[in-house]
Amino acid sequence: MDTDVTEPDRPRRDPADDEDEGSPFGPVGVVGAGAMGAGIAQVAATAGHAVTLVDAAAGAAAAAVERIGASLSRLVEKGRLSADDATAVRRRITPAEALDELPHCGLVIEAVPEDLDLKRRIFAELADLQPPTTVLATNTSSIDIDDIAHEVTDPERVLGLHFFNPPPVMKLVEVVHGERTARAFVEHAAALMAAWGKTPVRCSSTPGFIVNRVARPFYGEAQRIVESGIADAATVDWILREKGGFPMGPLELTDFIGQDVNLAVGTSVWEQTGRDERYAPTAFQRSLVEAGRLGRKSGRGVYTYAADGSVDDSVDGSEPDVELAERLVGGPVATDPLARTLAMLVNEAVDLVARGEASADDVDTAMRLGTRYPKGPIEWGREIGFDVVARQVAELDDAYPGGRYRPSPALTDGSLR
Ligand SMILES: NC(=O)c1ccc[n+]([C@@H]2O[C@H](COP(=O)([O-])OP(=O)(O)OC[C@H]3O[C@@H](n4cnc5c(N)ncnc54)[C@H](O)[C@@H]3O)[C@@H](O)[C@H]2O)c1
Repeated sequence: MDTDVTEPDRPRRDPADDEDEGSPFGPVGVVGAGAMGAGIAQVAATAGHAVTLVDAAAGAAAAAVERIGASLSRLVEKGRLSADDATAVRRRITPAEALDELPHCGLVIEAVPEDLDLKRRIFAELADLQPPTTVLATNTSSIDIDDIAHEVTDPERVLGLHFFNPPPVMKLVEVVHGERTARAFVEHAAALMAAWGKTPVRCSSTPGFIVNRVARPFYGEAQRIVESGIADAATVDWILREKGGFPMGPLELTDFIGQDVNLAVGTSVWEQTGRDERYAPTAFQRSLVEAGRLGRKSGRGVYTYAADGSVDDSVDGSEPDVELAERLVGGPVATDPLARTLAMLVNEAVDLVARGEASADDVDTAMRLGTRYPKGPIEWGREIGFDVVARQVAELDDAYPGGRYRPSPALTDGSLR
């Protein structure tokens, strides 16, 4: 995923329309002016809102506004935004250093570091400062919405708006409801995201929400296949790319994301599901992180990288064994990296839908937009046949007993046909 692209989503209204009167939804507050907060502020201002961007670190919000200005200028240079619109968008964003500098907002989005105590404190303060109609949203990737809303007296207005990185480019926003979030606020927030040119999907506050939950087997199965010596990393990546149509293989993707970051997300889902065996981190990935092999950013992860960022192909194991790949694909599911990965992706997605955490359409949309999978997993399941997937997962369970491979009952109960 390119983190330096700042092509904005096209707003449905002219950003210059309401420079003076403000958007009908009212001002937007963004708390935390880091990578995500600055991007979200840019998106909101581009959609016409007056935005106040708050960061507790002295000068951080002002510096973020400068960065947003530079990113808007690049869009002007590329002919994607007029100079006047860029100026108007930039002028709508006001930097601030404390929550009490926020005006009364229609929506406040929090994007401070992933720390429950910090987020709880901010939400308690925001709930006191903002009127009861203000939607209070968190951009958390992994913390339960009800936990964040714990000290808010009216938690029905607290929800998740999980943007993907970088927010001006990525279309997907997971609109996450806690147990106490009111439906009306969810619909209101989803409609607003659509008006910002985003594609909202709704889900409950389940560990990992949709994308970070359903994607777990994409990484985990590849790691286990390499760990057990069925195929080397380059061959597994080749199979998922060339035979599966995924834009990147799972092992090269974790090098790109950062092995430490990917392990932290996986571990968080594992912990939050009561250490469900299905999400248990692999020894393979743990040992990479322990050895400081964090991926591209450290020059070495699963692969070794040359100074220009390309894979160093003088290192053994960087080239796929295509002959082996052709033998494995279409063979027994336990040793077929593609069938095994798809079966587990479908199983995970079906489970999420069957538990009522998200709709089948939203799961497919989320995976296509959030991870760029070539197809949604439910659509894939229909193509493969849910009964075939059920047999494949059962076969995996026979080959690797211990609870990791549990066919979802919804694969065979007919509910998803
Ligand atoms: N980076 C990603 O790819 C990504 C993607 C989706 C969601 N998220 C989530 O978004 C949130 C922010 O992530 P990020 O990568 O932008 O973090 P970041 O570290 O880049 O930025 C966080 C900012 O919050 C500020 N901050 C800290 N305490 C504050 C306080 N009390 N009041 C106001 N500002 C404060 C910091 O000074 C910093 O500028 C996290 O919850 C993260 O899980 C991140």
